[in-house]
Amino acid sequence: MFMEAAIRNYEDVDSWKTVIFLYNAALKEVGTKLEILNDEFQHVHRYNPIEHIKTRIKTPESIVKKLKRNGHTTSIENMVKYVKDIAGVRLICSFTSDIYRLAEMIGNQSDLKVLSIKDYIKNPKESGYKSYHMLVSVPIFLSDSVVDTKVEIQIRTIAMDFWASLEHKIYYKFEGNAPEYISRDLRECAQMVSELDDKMLSLNEAIKKCLSDGSCIEDMDNSFRREA
Ligand code: GTP
Ligand code: MG
Repeated sequence: MFMEAAIRNYEDVDSWKTVIFLYNAALKEVGTKLEILNDEFQHVHRYNPIEHIKTRIKTPESIVKKLKRNGHTTSIENMVKYVKDIAGVRLICSFTSDIYRLAEMIGNQSDLKVLSIKDYIKNPKESGYKSYHMLVSVPIFLSDSVVDTKVEIQIRTIAMDFWASLEHKIYYKFEGNAPEYISRDLRECAQMVSELDDKMLSLNEAIKKCLSDGSCIEDMDNSFRREA
């Protein structure tokens, strides 16, 4: 059953409580799922793809703002239909490769339905914003029904997250009208973030290769010998 059907029999206040209850349940389900995936990965590969997980429910104010911005009247039905990120999960990882690994693991969960994907890493936004977005739905099992509930998952590196939180703050300070030199500097920072992510990834690959085939140990031995 879709959420629109779940709220149809209630008065407004009850509907509001019901949807928020469902979105909270969905966040718990998805959050636990991701923690389990991370633990399994640690158990098998001795490595955690997730640095940390943040979850949040959108505030009523920003739900109303978003509905207005997109030309919809404020109603619970519209909010459920048009606001896709009421329940949000943010996954922060170390390397860009972790992002795609996680996205694949999420896509393979048979009880999650992937509704849409936006890859702002391959196609960054005009602002310079990078992240991998997945809109999924998760079944919430109630006593007498099952409700498919949407959750927006954003996956990004620590560096992308650093950039996005700064940009977000600036965007709000200037109410979307930042002076051109600030937007330009932010785009430059976004470029630096991409270069940093690429460099960290290749450094990590080099370290892994060195430790697995011992190629750099030899180099280390030689340099020790030269110094002696
Ligand atoms: P909204 O941007 O939320 O209105 O919805 P949308 O349908 O355009 O979805 P999109 O995938 O573009 O963005 C969803 C979310 O991604 C936003 O709510 C932000 O959390 C984040 N986001 C998107 N673009 C930017 C950006 O330029 N800067 C920052 N800091 N965050 C962004
Ligand atoms: Mg947007």
